Amino acid sequence: MNAQGLMDTAKMLVADDKGLLAIDESNATCNTRFARLGIPQTEETRRAWRELILTTPGLGECVSGLILYDETIRQTKKDGMPFAKIITDAGIIPGVKVDTGAKDMAGHPGEKITEGLDGLRDRLTEYFQMGARFAKWRAVIAVGDGIPSRGCIEANAHALARYAALCQEAGLVPVVEPEVLMDGAHSLKRCFEVTEEVLQAVFSQLHTQRVSLEGVILKPNMVLAGLTSSRQETVEEVADATVTCLLRAVPAAVPGIAFLSGGQSGELASARLNAMNVRFKARAPWALAFSFARAIQQPALEIWQGEEARVLAAQRALYQRARCNRAARRGEYDAAMERI
Ligand code: G3H
Repeated sequence: MNAQGLMDTAKMLVADDKGLLAIDESNATCNTRFARLGIPQTEETRRAWRELILTTPGLGECVSGLILYDETIRQTKKDGMPFAKIITDAGIIPGVKVDTGAKDMAGHPGEKITEGLDGLRDRLTEYFQMGARFAKWRAVIAVGDGIPSRGCIEANAHALARYAALCQEAGLVPVVEPEVLMDGAHSLKRCFEVTEEVLQAVFSQLHTQRVSLEGVILKPNMVLAGLTSSRQETVEEVADATVTCLLRAVPAAVPGIAFLSGGQSGELASARLNAMNVRFKARAPWALAFSFARAIQQPALEIWQGEEARVLAAQRALYQRARCNRAARRGEYDAAMERI
């Protein structure tokens, strides 16, 4: 493991107020999003959609890293140029999602364990050869009556740490994603408690597995009330709760925190990230960045609808959302930007 190289890559992923764009939906998830809009669900439409994204003019001004999926990292532009090369040429770092999905956890009704450790060492070597310099693994933690259980938290934290250690051995920066889900009617306070417990478990396991924190990016949820909770806190309250929770659980050695959007609207995700940076950028020990999928992609996907004639309009919408998030990293986002 080249510790300095990992540290440099991790720093680059959160440098210049940029962030990550996740285009790493599994084929099934991508197809579900296409189906809702009547877009054909084929390998070619998935390829065309990802080509539209990664050839968006100016994307590299706002995005430092693109997270691909196994199918996507093997794909090429229509003219045969590999996606990983196009991304690198645009000044963006290619990464790849390497877990194989969250499956029902035995003995733990309503809870999931993320799989993908078997054969991971060889897959990481192959991804590195293809140009990837970072990877992502997502654990999902549901909140509900009696859950999450300690068993679910510990098993997922352990898997995240083993994945992270293998990534660093292969020269890839691990993006460690323990996602406390927004589904449910739980309060922000409950999300805070669960998120803190999960993060404490994750960092304890990262330490046990000898993962170098300087070469890690954390990709957590924001601390929010559940989607169906009748009380939804203000943008400022969410920002305060999120950063307070992270300060209690995330060591200062971690260079960057890149939030997932988790089903928030693009505007809310930007506003909340902006509020965090307005209030904490000057004193937080780590960068407060983004690693959004839906909160950047969704408006563009709705414009594109699978039509070649709408590619440019969709790219403009994608660039616009990426630009809003870069502004949010600087604490300069304003809802008025959405109308430009
Ligand atoms: O693993 C989840 C994605 O990388 C982030 O997706 O921003 O739509 O939650 P999201």
